[in-house]
Amino acid sequence: MWIMVLTLAAIHISTVLGGDAGIIYGRNGDNLPSPKRVIDFLTEDMNYAISLVRVYDANTEVLEALSGTNLVVTIGVPDEAIAHVAIPGVVQSFVPQAIINLYNSVRKASVDYIYVTTAVGGEVLECSYPPSAGQFANRVDKIMNNLTNYLYNIGSPLLINLYPYHALVSEPQHISLDYALFQSQKPVFTDGDLEYYNLFDAMVDAFVAAMVRVVQKEDVKLVVAETGWPTAGIVSYACTENARIYNLNLRKHAVEKGCTPRKADINLEVYISEMFNENLQPDEFERNLGTFYPNLTEVYQLWR
Ligand SMILES: *[C@@H]1O[C@H](CO)[C@@H](O)[C@H](O)[C@H]1NC(C)=O
Ligand SMILES: *[C@@H]1O[C@H](CO)[C@@H](O)[C@H](O)[C@H]1NC(C)=O
Repeated sequence: MWIMVLTLAAIHISTVLGGDAGIIYGRNGDNLPSPKRVIDFLTEDMNYAISLVRVYDANTEVLEALSGTNLVVTIGVPDEAIAHVAIPGVVQSFVPQAIINLYNSVRKASVDYIYVTTAVGGEVLECSYPPSAGQFANRVDKIMNNLTNYLYNIGSPLLINLYPYHALVSEPQHISLDYALFQSQKPVFTDGDLEYYNLFDAMVDAFVAAMVRVVQKEDVKLVVAETGWPTAGIVSYACTENARIYNLNLRKHAVEKGCTPRKADINLEVYISEMFNENLQPDEFERNLGTFYPNLTEVYQLWR
């Protein structure tokens, strides 16, 4: 098992030119198989077709099931480190210190390939269109500048949570379903000389622009730590067919293309949310992201 606190990237940078897609294994449900069954399924039945797994908690049963496998595992940090960056408007000055402490403690723990970072969502951006105008919002820019500089200096990526679905739902008059589902045949817009065919790339590149603005270098790193599309919900875009198209195209985009218009060297690493529908999640959206049923059959063909 490779444990990476919060993220990983080293392995991909050295072994693949391109990207990869992994899965988030959340356990907030009362009808899910045991961790051992899930990990055996990924390693034996699936034969590592999914080799990157992200878990939110360092639960002993999960870690035991993972040990001895060759899965690349990303584990969440203490909630406070993530929550306080992800929630805008809160004064978050201690977050970088939490990350620094974590980095120092995992370095002592002699685990290879450790990258320490934190996850932020699109709400930390003030401007994301066109992508080259991307910048962190005023209310979070002190902390994001600090975090971005720190991560850049230790060579760690920023983890971002990115949902074209939410952008579409909030602005259906400006965003087409095809653009959100990677189905546009023609560029939807150009930004300078860069052509954008899908919303995902535009959202990633807005983050790239915001990070480059801070460090004044192009070689920033990021990982899409969470993305996905719901199979059900009150919003009509939430249906199995759209979820299938989004996740399948996303996975192909990461594996086959592996880059965005702005960054040929980004080695897109994306985590699809989620392995299962989590029936104990309070939010309808989060209850409907699963790509496997509890009996471990696929909800739609995605992973093989
Ligand atoms: C970031 O914040 C931490 C903790 O508040 C502080 O120690 C550090 O000097 C800051 N780093 C930068 C680059 O501003
Ligand atoms: C697995 O569960 C799904 C959803 O309940 C069901 O439709 C499917 O038939 C089940 N597959 C097997 C092999 O039991």
